[in-house]
Amino acid sequence: MTLNTVWAEIPMSDTAKNTKNPIRGLLTAGVRPQSTPRSTKSIINMSMGDPTVYGNLKTPVGVLEAMHKHLDSYKGHGYGPATGLNVARQALADKYSDPENGVNYTSDDTFLATGGSGAIELAMAALCGTGDSILIPRPGFTLYKTQAVSRGIDAREYDLLPENNWQADLAQMDSLIDSTTKAILINNPSNPCGSNWSKQHILDIIAIAEKHRVPIISDEMYEQLVFSGQVFYSTASLSKNVPVLTIGGLAKIHLVPGWRIGWVIVHDPINVMNSVKAALVNLCAILNGPNTTVQLAMPEIFFGDFNAAHLDFLKKTLEENARLVEKKANSIKGLRAITPQGAMYVMILFDPDVFDDSINNDSDLFHTLLWEENVEILPGDIFGLKNSMRIVIAPPKEILAEAFDRIETFCKRHYKN
Ligand SMILES: Cc1ncc(COP(=O)(O)O)c(C=O)c1O
Repeated sequence: MTLNTVWAEIPMSDTAKNTKNPIRGLLTAGVRPQSTPRSTKSIINMSMGDPTVYGNLKTPVGVLEAMHKHLDSYKGHGYGPATGLNVARQALADKYSDPENGVNYTSDDTFLATGGSGAIELAMAALCGTGDSILIPRPGFTLYKTQAVSRGIDAREYDLLPENNWQADLAQMDSLIDSTTKAILINNPSNPCGSNWSKQHILDIIAIAEKHRVPIISDEMYEQLVFSGQVFYSTASLSKNVPVLTIGGLAKIHLVPGWRIGWVIVHDPINVMNSVKAALVNLCAILNGPNTTVQLAMPEIFFGDFNAAHLDFLKKTLEENARLVEKKANSIKGLRAITPQGAMYVMILFDPDVFDDSINNDSDLFHTLLWEENVEILPGDIFGLKNSMRIVIAPPKEILAEAFDRIETFCKRHYKN
């Protein structure tokens, strides 16, 4: 027998081929070379939804102290149960139960995950398989589509309407549901829109879900992160007859995205989710749960006295930044910011007709702005909305102000004559 000693390139699996995260793809691909010289100014990053990039928004000391304590205890270094340590699951049940609204969780209703991303994966996989469909928002967090497509799930997008405070197009949502639809995914407050829905709008979505007997996955990574005059409503607390899988995580509120702690909580007001909970138990066994030291610290992280002051500071800072970005953007011809109400983002619409031929679309804007001014935003089309850009408002004010000075210079350079 003769051995073939020459190896061909080993092919990629079909799953990997179908798995594309447009944000990571864009940011790792680098800048598209242009004919003008590359800017030598320092880079300004308003692209990554990571609030820790500039160091102005710091993880609360109480969170760090809890982590130190549990690191030093030597009790958080082993494997934990796949669904999460009981102390963490109980902390979640205690924090998110809302008895006044009939929401009474036990630790068995909660499932720890690797970040909010892992929680989305758990919830989606528990409800949907190949050939099923799921409704997702457009514009929306890119991972929803990435994960759905990777698993052969048909991701059907319902529109969020900028002129209507980014509320969902309810008629369209209703029309997209058929017998293959296993979940309606909503995200409130929204990435990328920075919107916070009214109680009535969430109730309207719950009514659609009830009509079709479809559960809701409610991504609430930015829960409570809303600006003055706004009230955040958790979908589970409003839902009397529709099961809700709530997604949450420590990343944004506690400013520890790298710690990779997220969760799914099952609200089952009509007792139809026992199989889905069993599915979550099965799926958690694939990765055996996230970081155990952080899980041990979760009671202190959730219930420490520092939380109220921290949340106030975070909301105030983000709101001031949002107003600054909105004002600056609206003073530049061709740009229009949609007033945000929460989360960490401002969506800015741009009018390609006022710009010269080098700025025809979102991709042109992204690459040319990065090349000429070293300002990194994210093009709105990767979230599903053309002629827009998403700005992360977590950087310090002076950095945001400098970024918009550069954006103004850039726009002036590219206006059509
Ligand atoms: C709406 C939303 N859901 C989920 C996630 C993922 O969270 P994590 O970074 O903890 O995986 C993000 C992160 O940006 C997000 O914006």
